[in-house]
Amino acid sequence: MTSFSRITGTGSYLPPRRVTNDDLARELAARGVETSDQWIVERTGIRARHFAAPDVTSSDLALEACRHALEAAGRRADEVDLIIVATSTPDMVFPSSAAILQRKLGVAGCPAFDVQAVCSGFVYALTVADALIRTGTARCALVVGAEVFSRILDFNDRTTCVLFGDGAGAVVLEASETPGILASDLHADGKHAGILCVPGQVSGGAILGTPLLHMDGQAVFKLAVRVLEESARATLAKAGKTEADLDWLIPHQANIRIMEGTARKLKMSREKLIVTVDEHGNTSAASIPLALDFAVRQGKIQKGDTLMLEGVGGGFTWGAVLLNL
Ligand code: UT7
Repeated sequence: MTSFSRITGTGSYLPPRRVTNDDLARELAARGVETSDQWIVERTGIRARHFAAPDVTSSDLALEACRHALEAAGRRADEVDLIIVATSTPDMVFPSSAAILQRKLGVAGCPAFDVQAVCSGFVYALTVADALIRTGTARCALVVGAEVFSRILDFNDRTTCVLFGDGAGAVVLEASETPGILASDLHADGKHAGILCVPGQVSGGAILGTPLLHMDGQAVFKLAVRVLEESARATLAKAGKTEADLDWLIPHQANIRIMEGTARKLKMSREKLIVTVDEHGNTSAASIPLALDFAVRQGKIQKGDTLMLEGVGGGFTWGAVLLNL
């Protein structure tokens, strides 16, 4: 009898073009937009991000991340019976990027769908996959976060365009007799939709509105700091655990000040905080699985460790997943 789900492999992929703050500042200066490496590092902790080539889509990045995750799990694509992709930058209006990814993986038949919860997308997707595995609907899931946020950035808006990057991360989540995922906690509050949004839509063959990212950074910052602490505590309580049980904290990689603030509130030392925002920027739904895979491959995170994954972003959405690797 299997009543749990457990991560059996992780993988990630970054498009090869690495853009440093100085590179970006030079490109923006050519448009008359002023920024600096110093401002970006001091306010966010970001030093570089990766941008995908114009013809590369979220499902292309997802495919590479999935190949690495499947290899790590010792699984073939045809053993996967559920594919969930968290993305806010899908390849098309429809079909889902998950269905497109399924075809690129060379398989067919299993359910495949996207989850849209912006930067909380991966914790949402992982929670859905866990529930489907625990009810016996699936046994071997690919759970992916994949984004090409560079496509929706307004490069005339220095308050947002320096913050985001492209990439993908994936995990293989399998039915298990021992607990992997211990508890999760998901929330949304649509009244804050306006503080972080891409207010555009397709209608009659045209684009209505402005399909570029808009953010009230300070409003997002304040909400993020509050809900990340609340969600971590709620998730620990559901599992009957405390902060002392955590080996690692992997928050959404948006701003080092938010991440360090959350770790401080949870009384976790800086060494237990996984940080990739410096090299990846904010990759939205991809940021948590990217950070997880980097830390696993660096040998920091080991099998058996207890991790808190935390997402927060547009919607407003937020949530956390507590798990044993
Ligand atoms: O993925 C979802 C989660 N997203 C987040 O968590 C983002 C949350 N928000 C933040 O991380 C921060 O609010 C930002 C990094 C976006 C902004 O940092 P801040 O410390 O809140 O800066 P600010 O908006 O108060 O701006 C301070 C100054 C302003 O100039 P004045 O008005 O003081 O003269 C801005 O115009 O910095 C200026 N500024 C910049 N200067 C150089 C804003 N962006 C830039 C820039 N380069 N790129």
